Amino acid sequence: MARTIDWVDDAVELIDQTRLPQDEVVLRITQVDDLIDAISRLAVRGAPALGVAGAFGVVLAARAHAPATDPDTFGVEVARLRNARPTAVNLARGVDLAVTAAADGPDGALAAARALRDDEVAASWSMSAYGADLAEELVGGAVRAMTVCNTGGLAAVERGTALGVIEELHERGRLVEALPIETRPLLQGGRLTTWELGRIGAPHRLLVDSAGPFILSRGGADLVVAGADRIAVDGATANKIGTFSLALAARYAGVPFVIVAPESTVDPGTATGDEIEIEDRGPAEVISVRDTPIALPGTDALNPAFDVTPADLITAIVTDRRVIRLDRGETLASVPLGERRAGDRAGGAVN
Ligand code: MRU
Repeated sequence: MARTIDWVDDAVELIDQTRLPQDEVVLRITQVDDLIDAISRLAVRGAPALGVAGAFGVVLAARAHAPATDPDTFGVEVARLRNARPTAVNLARGVDLAVTAAADGPDGALAAARALRDDEVAASWSMSAYGADLAEELVGGAVRAMTVCNTGGLAAVERGTALGVIEELHERGRLVEALPIETRPLLQGGRLTTWELGRIGAPHRLLVDSAGPFILSRGGADLVVAGADRIAVDGATANKIGTFSLALAARYAGVPFVIVAPESTVDPGTATGDEIEIEDRGPAEVISVRDTPIALPGTDALNPAFDVTPADLITAIVTDRRVIRLDRGETLASVPLGERRAGDRAGGAVN
């Protein structure tokens, strides 16, 4: 399939990210319950992709329970979808957008969901171009880029956010190597980011999570670049657990730390990072690795799926429409939206 998630012949089709990198399996989903399950177990994941999944999910809900004739059931279904994961603001936004459009029936919701998909794709290419320009400027030469989780086309429908920047640097001949951290417990860095980098032939070496800060302290990377699940008005940014540790280490090492995310991830309804709800996914993922137990059954665990990096640790936030230099005192409020860029689409989509 050309995209991570799409609407194909009356169904949501998505690549099952839980099966990667071993198996490339496409799921066809026609029921809201199955889509909620796919979101909950991270078969589809990453903030922009979750927004598109939520919008397509509303189409499924509107087809099963017409909002005009069965508004109560429709409302229950979309609320379940909206709450399937709490941290990435894109999911709730995608659902809300399609619910509004569903006033014109399922076809209205479908048109809105497709428009959101196209918008995220365009945003993805634009922020990759802006981010690669900034990376070259900050580093002043070819880049060794550390990153966390998976932020490529898998997470963003096409191209990516932070990984889109790394891919664009590679296509420009400006990437020395990418250094993804494995991203316990679900290993999005180890399983998905290496898969995406391998497909485009970008040089990379995988690190265990705890090696990231130390490698930074030894001068092993020139830049940390990460995605976001929600950006608060004060610039604090929620992203995959482990991001905050890299930001602290980057500050210690004097290495720029850059967040890359679409404008759809900026949440005007969240004033500060403290207000961001962090999903706790329970002990099971911590006490085993891919179904192999690593602690005794019943061992309790904390499993925050995300952390929050305060604005003063962030060098810049790059979106599809602006670059906000927090290190120079700029804020989300002070930098107006600019134009989107086309990006280097000659490189093609990664999926
Ligand atoms: O739990 P996940 O895999 O959905 O977490 C994803 C991330 O944290 C990404 O970094 C974020 O969504 C930005 S991706 C474009």
